[in-house]
Amino acid sequence: MDRMNQNRNALSLDFDEADPAARLLHVAVIPDGNGRWAAARGLPRPAGHQAGVDAVRRLVEAAPALGIGTLTLYVFSADNWERPKAEVLGLFALLLRFLEEGEAFRALGVRLQVIGRRDRLPQELRGAIAATEKLTAAGRRLHLRMAVDYSSQDAILRAACRMISSLEISRREFARVLGLASHSGGPAPDVDLLIRTGGEQRLSDFLLWESAYAELVFSPKLWPDFQAEDLEAALREFHRRERRFGRVPAAVAAV
Ligand code: IPE
Ligand code: IPE
Ligand code: MG
Repeated sequence: MDRMNQNRNALSLDFDEADPAARLLHVAVIPDGNGRWAAARGLPRPAGHQAGVDAVRRLVEAAPALGIGTLTLYVFSADNWERPKAEVLGLFALLLRFLEEGEAFRALGVRLQVIGRRDRLPQELRGAIAATEKLTAAGRRLHLRMAVDYSSQDAILRAACRMISSLEISRREFARVLGLASHSGGPAPDVDLLIRTGGEQRLSDFLLWESAYAELVFSPKLWPDFQAEDLEAALREFHRRERRFGRVPAAVAAV
């Protein structure tokens, strides 16, 4: 636990201290590679997304035991609207079914929340999001944030526009406004560890501000193949690293 706290972001912002989830690690995941997973099996892309949902379930079940309090998953980026309409609708249908498992999340102590724009989503999906958020609001074992129609640049821009009349604002205040701009209701702790599967090494407009000092782990595995053991390995890698936040190494400071 000490090690974990030591690894907490020293620049941590204004999150809800009363929430036990907020004192644990914040892990962000870019679950990439569903399409390639399906193509490798001669299957249509939706089959990859379907298998991807099973991998999400595995992740959610494994996370609390690994000291993860907040898990933010990139589900659908604002740029993913550029995909074929049938794929977009298929992704929304999967998300709808996932949200309908709200009772199972509630039983696991998971608080599910969706961040990102809501206004462009189908009405039925918006309703399901609101219902599942309400149903699981008391969950304290894991804060599961799903980023849907999410663009970090847009969120930063919207937050900046809201602040335009303020002459001087702190990072803390900006993070609060950014939380509102991303419809997250308020800031989560900064990201400690960001994992991207699928072999690509980029952020694709995900949590740019919140990942300022995140440790990055890139996995060559395609998302549907990602197992709880892979998450554990990423966490082990995270704990091996020394987070310095611009300071000198701890061993040097101790001299
Ligand atoms: C990530 O897998 C899931 C979403 C973007 C929804 P992809 O669909 O991007 O899979 P690849 O990168 O084409 O293999
Ligand atoms: C990022 O993956 C978005 C999600 C995983 C939801 P993409 O597959 O859309 O990212 P790029 O296009 O390879 O950067
Ligand atoms: Mg991709």
